[in-house]
Amino acid sequence: MKKVLVLPGDGIGTEIVAQGVRVLDAVKQKFGLQIETDHALIGGSAIDATGVPLPDETLNKARAADAILLGAVGGPKWDDLDMAVRPEKGLLGIRSQLELFGNLRPAILYPQLADASTLKSEVVSGLDILIVRELTGGIYFGQPRGIRTLENGEREGFNTYVYSESEIERIGRVAFEAAQKRGGKLCSVDKHNVLEVTVLWREVMDRLAPEYPDVELSHMYVDNAAMQLVRAPKQFDVMVTGNMFGDILSDCAAMLTGSIGMLPSASLDANNKGMYEPVHGSAPDIAGQDLANPLATILSVAMMLRYSLNEVAAADAIEQAVSKVLDAGIRTGDIWSEGCEKVGTQAMGDAVVQALNELS
Ligand code: NAI
Ligand code: MG
Repeated sequence: MKKVLVLPGDGIGTEIVAQGVRVLDAVKQKFGLQIETDHALIGGSAIDATGVPLPDETLNKARAADAILLGAVGGPKWDDLDMAVRPEKGLLGIRSQLELFGNLRPAILYPQLADASTLKSEVVSGLDILIVRELTGGIYFGQPRGIRTLENGEREGFNTYVYSESEIERIGRVAFEAAQKRGGKLCSVDKHNVLEVTVLWREVMDRLAPEYPDVELSHMYVDNAAMQLVRAPKQFDVMVTGNMFGDILSDCAAMLTGSIGMLPSASLDANNKGMYEPVHGSAPDIAGQDLANPLATILSVAMMLRYSLNEVAAADAIEQAVSKVLDAGIRTGDIWSEGCEKVGTQAMGDAVVQALNELS
């Protein structure tokens, strides 16, 4: 029996996660999967109930689970709290406690939604790329760091950009394995001409390559990668990069699709245990109104089945069901366009479950 911990969180989190769980239940039945679910608190709702954003009970359940499905955390109610007890601390805490260093961010533009992008449809229609971002190292975590005063009285801010060979190797393996499961192409993004860290980065990627003969490895400078993502994004299959470059490139790639309500993500540890969540936040402006698009969360469930639970057929089925629903012109408000049928969060969940049950 595999264990999935469900963390709805705040705002639209509870609404979208409820639909994700319904879809998980539907594939469990359809494929006879042995998966049990449990629920726990995180973020603002955890602060309200226990005073802290990541209660021990939640962390213990997360450690015992094979995978975690998260909605989103945060909202205006908790914005004035001290940094140490803000909802976001719950998220950062669980990521670091579970060592979820491998962040997988797909950017998929369903052909049915090509108009949602600000780029020309021929440039982005059918886009399907995966950015693998190192999440627990690099310049965001390197020591020493701070703001110091020099002898002449001027202050300077400083951070340390550091990656060990083992940190590079483990994110490299996540990326090579993901490329094996997809189109077999991996582009490693660095700044090899300027930063020693990325000289080592490139060396380690090259050293791993022979172990994955079915993956074609290439290298690209980060500035060029940013240009290419906007110019001709379909040239990429999987991209792998460090924490800071990945932060920027993955948000850029996400926006190529124009649909924040459609984008799932995964954060994996060394044993493919993972936390799965939509890329968007808790959307307080539409919370509690049955308006949120649950598809990013439903597609996160598909990723969970693919990467942590090893149930690839069930993952494929969810993705096909979502595509069928889009084919049928069913849309939540955020992706709606003229001639389509506008539905709420629950009705979108209904439509996916029905499409799933109708798949042969
Ligand atoms: P947001 O992603 O929550 O919302 C941005 C805009 O997109 C809003 O207009 C929202 O209505 C819309 N939107 C987002 N998800 C949607 C969905 N599924 N369906 C339809 N429309 C959707 O980002 P924002 O407004 O900057 O942050 C709101 C709160 O969420 C803040 O407290 C922030 O800290 C938190 N947040 C949490 C994240 C997480 O838990 N991983 C990530 C980003 C923000
Ligand atoms: Mg970001």
